[in-house]
Amino acid sequence: MTLNWTFSLGAQEMKSSAIREILKITERPEIISFAGGLPAPELFPVEDLKKACKSVLENVGPKSLQYSVSLGVPPLRKFLAERLSQKVMALTEENILVTGGSQQGLDLVGKMFLDKGSVVICESPTYLGAIQAFNVYNPHYVTVEMDENGMLTDQVEENIKKYKPRLIYVVPNFQNPSGITLSYERREHLVKLAKEYYVPIIDDNPYGELRYIGKDVPSLKSLGGDLVIQLGTISKIISPGLRIAWIVAPTQVMTMFERLKQGADLHTNTFAQYVVAEYVKDGRLDKHIEEIKAAYGERRNVMIKAMTEYFPENVKWTEPEGGLFLWVELPPEISATDLLQEALKQKVAYVPGKPFHPYEDKDNTLRLNFSNASPEMIIEGIKRLGKVFKENIAQTAKLRKVASK
Ligand SMILES: Cc1ncc(COP(=O)(O)O)c(C=O)c1O
Repeated sequence: MTLNWTFSLGAQEMKSSAIREILKITERPEIISFAGGLPAPELFPVEDLKKACKSVLENVGPKSLQYSVSLGVPPLRKFLAERLSQKVMALTEENILVTGGSQQGLDLVGKMFLDKGSVVICESPTYLGAIQAFNVYNPHYVTVEMDENGMLTDQVEENIKKYKPRLIYVVPNFQNPSGITLSYERREHLVKLAKEYYVPIIDDNPYGELRYIGKDVPSLKSLGGDLVIQLGTISKIISPGLRIAWIVAPTQVMTMFERLKQGADLHTNTFAQYVVAEYVKDGRLDKHIEEIKAAYGERRNVMIKAMTEYFPENVKWTEPEGGLFLWVELPPEISATDLLQEALKQKVAYVPGKPFHPYEDKDNTLRLNFSNASPEMIIEGIKRLGKVFKENIAQTAKLRKVASK
């Protein structure tokens, strides 16, 4: 039956996520997948969460299964306000809204700031999920190039003057997908621009706590205060399945966020919020973060060492100091999208870089995740990828030579 329905312009803008499509294939057990952004399931704190669930049902009881306030349950907001006051800047519960993942935070940001044609300044590449969340509002993206110190803030200034953007979206720590961290100087510059031109900065920060080497850089939120809306999440430090995250925003805009949240889903899962509030008691969270950092830091090192050994010389990559991803650049004539089919034949998977560009205009890059496979699998997977790269780069060079004769 044909459904001759007229869909909203926003819905028509939505494409299915390239990553979700790829993940469907890579979920096959025989494939070594560097494609997803999944934390290591063997490191989830199952026993402690079991205890937390039991305690919530016994001590909070029916209230934990009831509707609750849109901003989030008090013990969780209190915990977040205290933790963020130590780590980021002095703030109170009034500055915090609990969301169903940061992905919902991005949707609420889109609802709050974007109309058809509104300009979003973002990094190139940028987080694919943000593009998806914003696309329904039909914005126009102005992308800013990056180097090893993050987005080129001089370009941001030029673009602010030219396009009068509604917001600047940035993943400043161990960016998804590139792994790059925005330098202190660039953060200061960005905050200065936000102040001068009244543009809010969205500081999307799921990976800030996952630093394996080097020193923390002061957060955009701590440098920019009320000029910055920060998104945080437990997805990469406790569990993504619980869908608990938060928006930190100035009190002046909290009422607006609260109304948008009400319209979206009334409130985030009450039980999950109480469970997280119970789980994080007694310093448990910091201990757990230390454990996962040790494991992911090792996996990062193993991946980089294997790449050095098995990747051909004309392939470059980033060496992130934290997070879950690194970014690979192939010679310009190679399409990472086409090459994925070859990689899948060798039973190894990655995500091509193309969808991380809002206009999908670059195709010789790819993202590798290092948190989800064991060190042994990482070595084997990189070896297979190295073979695919070498063979295809050599073949392309041969074809070019023939064509140029
Ligand atoms: C940069 C970035 N923002 C937001 C999210 C969404 O996180 P959540 O699981 O909290 O929805 C992710 C998840 O990978 C991410 O990498």
